[in-house]
This record gives sequence, C-alpha cells and structure tokens, in this order.
Amino acid sequence: MPGRAAVCVIGFGELGSVLAVGLVAAGVADVRVYVRRRAEADDHARALGTRILSAGAHPHNDLEPALRGVRVAISAVPAAAAGDVAERAAPLLDDGALFVDLSADLPERKAAAAEIVERQGGRYVDVAVMGTAVMSGYGVPMLASGSGAAAWGAIAGSLGMQVDEVEGRAGRASTVKLLRSVYMKGRDALMAEMLVAARRYGLDAELLPTIAGPGEEVSFPELAERVLCSLALHADRRADELDAAAELLRGAGLDPLVTAAAAERLRWISDLGLGEDFAGQRPQALEAVLEAIDARTIPSNRRMLAAWEQARTSD
Ligand SMILES: NC(=O)c1ccc[n+]([C@@H]2O[C@H](COP(=O)([O-])OP(=O)(O)OC[C@H]3O[C@@H](n4cnc5c(N)ncnc54)[C@H](OP(=O)(O)O)[C@@H]3O)[C@@H](O)[C@H]2O)c1
Repeated sequence: MPGRAAVCVIGFGELGSVLAVGLVAAGVADVRVYVRRRAEADDHARALGTRILSAGAHPHNDLEPALRGVRVAISAVPAAAAGDVAERAAPLLDDGALFVDLSADLPERKAAAAEIVERQGGRYVDVAVMGTAVMSGYGVPMLASGSGAAAWGAIAGSLGMQVDEVEGRAGRASTVKLLRSVYMKGRDALMAEMLVAARRYGLDAELLPTIAGPGEEVSFPELAERVLCSLALHADRRADELDAAAELLRGAGLDPLVTAAAAERLRWISDLGLGEDFAGQRPQALEAVLEAIDARTIPSNRRMLAAWEQARTSD
C-alpha cells in the first residue's frame, strides 16, 4: 500500500527503528512513530525526535494523534509493555485498522490482546519475528496469525516485508516461535555443554570438524524425518550412548544438565516400544512416528479434545 495510507510504529528501539526507516523507503508517505514521554532530560527526547525525523517519519508523544486515521499500527515494544500498549491503542483505532503486535509474548497473552483490540473494532495480528532486526534488517522473516493476518501479509508483502501466514487465531504464530525455540535454543545449550567439556579434555579442535555428516547437509524437514524414523527403532541405543557421554562430562567436572535430560527423553521414546507399531521395520514418514507416539501417550479422550481444539483454533 505505498502511498497515502498512514502507518504508526509504536516504539523506536532496535526493531521499531528499522521498520520505520524501511516503511519510509518502501514509499509509505505518512509514517508516524510514537515514543512515550520520558521523565529524563529534554536532550534525550530531542535527540530521539531528530532521529525519527531524519528517518523521514513523524514523531509523536501522544498516542491519540499518532493513531488517528492510521490503517496499520505496528507495536514494537517489549513483551512486558505489549498488553498495556494494545489496551491503550484499541479504542483509538479506526474500525478495521490493523494492530500488528511484534512482541515476543506468550500465546495466551497475544490472544488476550486480540480480544481487546477486536472488541473495539480493530483487527489484531499476532506476529512472531523469526530472526533479528540486527541480522536481517527490514526483511526479517515474520509469521502472522489472527483476524488481521491475511490483510497484514498482503500489505507487508507489497511493502517488501517477508510475512508468512499461520492459519488460526492470534497466538498461533507465537506458538510456532516458542516451539521452534525448543530446538534452536535447546541446540545452543547442547552445543555449549559439549564444547565446554571438549575443551576440558583438550579435544575441542578435534571435535568441531567431526560434526559434518550427511545430517548437516539435508533440509531441516528431511533431517527431522530421518531422526524420528530412526528413533522409533533405536532410541534405546542412543539413550545408552548419551548416558555414557553424561558420565564423561561428569569426569570433566561438568554437570551434564542437557545431555542427561536428552538421555531421559530418548529413554522415554524407547520405553514406548514403537518397534511393535512398525513390526520392527524402520518407518518411512515423520507423521507416522508422531502419530504412534501420540497414540501411546495421550489418552483417547485427550486426543479427541486435542482434535477438537485444533479444528476450533484453525477456524
Ligand atoms: N530487535 C529484534 O530484532 C527483535 C526480534 C524479535 C522480536 N522482537 C520483539 O520486538 C519488540 C521490540 O524489540 P526491540 O528489540 O526493538 O526492543 P527495544 O530496543 O528495547 O525497544 C523497545 C521500544 O519500546 C518502547 N517502550 C517500552 N515500554 C513502552 C511502553 N510501556 N509504552 C510505549 N513504548 C514503550 C521503548 O521506549 P523507551 O526508550 O522509552 O524505553 C523503545 O522505544 C520486543 O517485544 C521484542 O521481543 C525484537
């Protein structure tokens, strides 16, 4: 929508400033930036105002004029402030205006903010930013869910942003992000644990290049399928090996927090006896393995509830 429609960015920190600059560059004529009034010296406020002006945007310290007539309000404030900002912005938005919430907040808090915005006629977009403004700039990938997600995807796409829609209500995009963190941040912890121990054994240089097998060369969906299909039959052997690795870490004076927990998770899979489900043959599809795990771990009434919840939230 380059042109006349106004956009307001709430917050001018690391992310908000990158987006405001990018929106101006993308041709949005009226980019407004709301920053809260601070008790600090006027110098700080003046410097901030100058930065906003030099970005080609219009600075505001009052939310009402900042949001008057905007088609999109983008909230780029810390999670702790996001609910309050949504509550203050909701009554000021035009009917149908988009409130795009970029905060890394809990899904249920995003859903609560959506209710507040929608009750007052706005459309809410739960956005999960899947990278950092520092690394990826204006094109940082985003996932979006909620009543305004499709509209935001279309507008953002026309402005050169990278937004993919996650079907369903507000909170679903943030759920994807947190689930991804189980792997991404879990991997960070595992990597740190491995390298601290390797260094204590004086083997870090030898170790690093060894993690370069076929597993590092396939796409993530392919890797996930490969790993889970193999675990369906061989989780016990891997748990045993991790027990031994944990012992090694203890020998280096390092509490193997992540390694021991990983061994427990693999033993949990091994104890399910998934081999029976697949007659001792390696399964071919990730979906089949996940289904088999669910069937053995979720009582049937809970499975029905989960299916019902899934259907309800993807409306
Ligand atoms: N930076 C990224 O790459 C990135 C990536 C993923 C997600 N996010 C999410 O995006 C949001 C913004 O991140 P950021 O890195 O840009 O944070 P930041 O650099 O700390 O900037 C936050 C901005 O919000 C303002 N703010 C704080 N509390 C406020 C309130 N109660 N009312 C109005 N404005 C308020 C701050 O103003 P003051 O200067 O007055 O405090 C500042 O302008 C966060 O929720 C973060 O989790 C950021």
